[in-house]
Amino acid sequence: MIRRQFQNIQKPHAYQALWFGTGGEMKHWTLDDIPWDKFDGTRVDSEILAVVKTASLVERNSADYATYLCNVFPDDPEFQDSAKAWAAEEIQHGAALGHWAEMADPGFDFQSSFRRFAEGYRIPVDAEASVRGSHSGELIARCVVETGTSSLYSALRDATDEPVLKIVCHKIAGDEFRHYKLFYTNLQRYLAREKPGLLRRVLVVFRRFYEIDDDELSYAYHCANLGDQTYDRKRAADAYLGRVAACYRRDHVQRAVGMAMKAIGVSPQGKLGRLAIWVVWRRFQQQTRQLQAS
Ligand SMILES: [Fe+2]
Ligand SMILES: [Fe+2]
Repeated sequence: MIRRQFQNIQKPHAYQALWFGTGGEMKHWTLDDIPWDKFDGTRVDSEILAVVKTASLVERNSADYATYLCNVFPDDPEFQDSAKAWAAEEIQHGAALGHWAEMADPGFDFQSSFRRFAEGYRIPVDAEASVRGSHSGELIARCVVETGTSSLYSALRDATDEPVLKIVCHKIAGDEFRHYKLFYTNLQRYLAREKPGLLRRVLVVFRRFYEIDDDELSYAYHCANLGDQTYDRKRAADAYLGRVAACYRRDHVQRAVGMAMKAIGVSPQGKLGRLAIWVVWRRFQQQTRQLQAS
């Protein structure tokens, strides 16, 4: 029944009604604000399309993260409300990207790809304490995620020549920067209470950064692009990261490192900050070359 509804959908706003209800959350834009009729199939890049399909599944899965955050912050109803509104925006990102990917590749079935992904990849929604060890650790990790997504969509926006995807990515990147600010603002409250040391804050960033090697992105890439093959985590992760890295320029990496530094309380303009940006950019270039050669 749901599948048939999707097949019959002509206007993208029907996606929103199906997933969010027809009223409620305050969002900064809706799918109706996207000029879908400007879509130009001749400007679709297959490498970028593979990244967009992957991102659509991960974004669509954000409801579970809201549940997790509400469990981890049970005594903070204001933050819980923010987390629910945040998740609604993330789900909308999945809807916009999924719709664009279906236009770019009529063989792509967003709903069935998402179902497969959600069945195979679960986050610990029943956790009662943060997997980062503290509330401030959780919020630093959320800042790292939003740092990654804001840079990803900025890079995709700048890399694509397809006019509709450019607009979609521009709007999503704007949301991701606001999400960073949301978690960063709440982080300041919890830092004042918990006072974690610099080393602890740095470790949270490193751990969260290296989780990009876990199954979430690689399995999403597999479900979105290689559904008829046997899942090979390394192959899928390399394929995804190689395509993403090709879209990044130095300014995207520089801004992302600056945001991560700010989240741990280190000035990106200071000596340490500038050194970190240089080291990460060199490492990024090295890894990109390795991924593209493999
Ligand atoms: Fe998002
Ligand atoms: Fe976000």
